[in-house]
Amino acid sequence: LSASDSRNPIQQIDRHLEVIVRSLVLPPNLVEAIAYATLSGGKRIRPLLAWHACAAMGTPGDRSLNVGSAVEFVHAFSLVHDDLPALDNDNLRRGKPTLHIHAGEPMAILAGDALLALAFDLLSRHVAEPTIAGMLVAELSRAAAGMIAGQVYDTLGGFAQGFTDRERLELIHRNKTGALIRAACRMGAIIGIADEALEQGISGARVPAIRIPAGQVASDLRLGAITRYGECVGLMFQIVDDLLDVESSPMQAGKRTGKDSGAGKLTYPELLGLEGSKQEVKRLMGTALEALAPLGARAEGLAQVARAMAERRR
Ligand code: IPE
Ligand code: IPE
Ligand code: MG
Ligand code: MG
Ligand code: MG
Repeated sequence: LSASDSRNPIQQIDRHLEVIVRSLVLPPNLVEAIAYATLSGGKRIRPLLAWHACAAMGTPGDRSLNVGSAVEFVHAFSLVHDDLPALDNDNLRRGKPTLHIHAGEPMAILAGDALLALAFDLLSRHVAEPTIAGMLVAELSRAAAGMIAGQVYDTLGGFAQGFTDRERLELIHRNKTGALIRAACRMGAIIGIADEALEQGISGARVPAIRIPAGQVASDLRLGAITRYGECVGLMFQIVDDLLDVESSPMQAGKRTGKDSGAGKLTYPELLGLEGSKQEVKRLMGTALEALAPLGARAEGLAQVARAMAERRR
């Protein structure tokens, strides 16, 4: 398998994450906890989105592996903490005991903390071009803060006055899940656009001294298209998650189900019903695919991921 082989991105993503985790210089019990949280059965939707967003820019998808892994680290952190007794108090994740059940609460808290920090370590060490590294850090830090804001809305409230339930629900979902998914798409596209610019600048070389104006990357019309796509599939993904909580089993989903209504969570099925929620998934999927139209055939990978995200059973 050559480095730029675009076959089986998931396999390459898994291998990349494994190499990163196994080379961490940290206490072995912490590395073990991080490995447990990152290497055991996630669907890798976010690195896959980064891969295909990069490919949609005409750049080989494997150039996105570091940024995709950084997003996956933040995602893993979000799940480990989301499952803690103080939050959702869940004991099953990806068909296995949650990290705090496996390694204890103190380790789950600390491993989550470490994953958030290590995500940025990854960006700082592996993106050579300084203006692009800065853009990526901005994307991921804002998305991580957005995810946390979403968790606060979901768990503790804190909405501005006058919001309807529907507005609150969208605000929760666009933040707690949508923010990281949007960032995965944008970060993959940013790497793709930057790589293209570098290739044009000097063939084949990766020279840190070459500065690509961030403004030029940010104003690329293709980034706008990817952003609209990312926002639609991000919201859609959490609606599907809400539906699975009602309609799926722990065996199928790999996590406890039927937990949202018991916990009094504001969800799509609760507010729009099952049919209304499924209609909303369809609508968002249509809008996501429309957003990709200007990108042409190169965006076929993203279209396929959107379909997989809508039809997933776990
Ligand atoms: C689960 O995310 C939590 C949500 C944000 C809905 P995923 O469904 O992507 O979880 P893994 O990584 O595949 O386990
Ligand atoms: C997860 O929402 C959102 C984040 C982890 C940021 P849920 O609480 O619905 O996710 P699951 O159902 O536990 O995977
Ligand atoms: Mg939760
Ligand atoms: Mg949860
Ligand atoms: Mg859920």
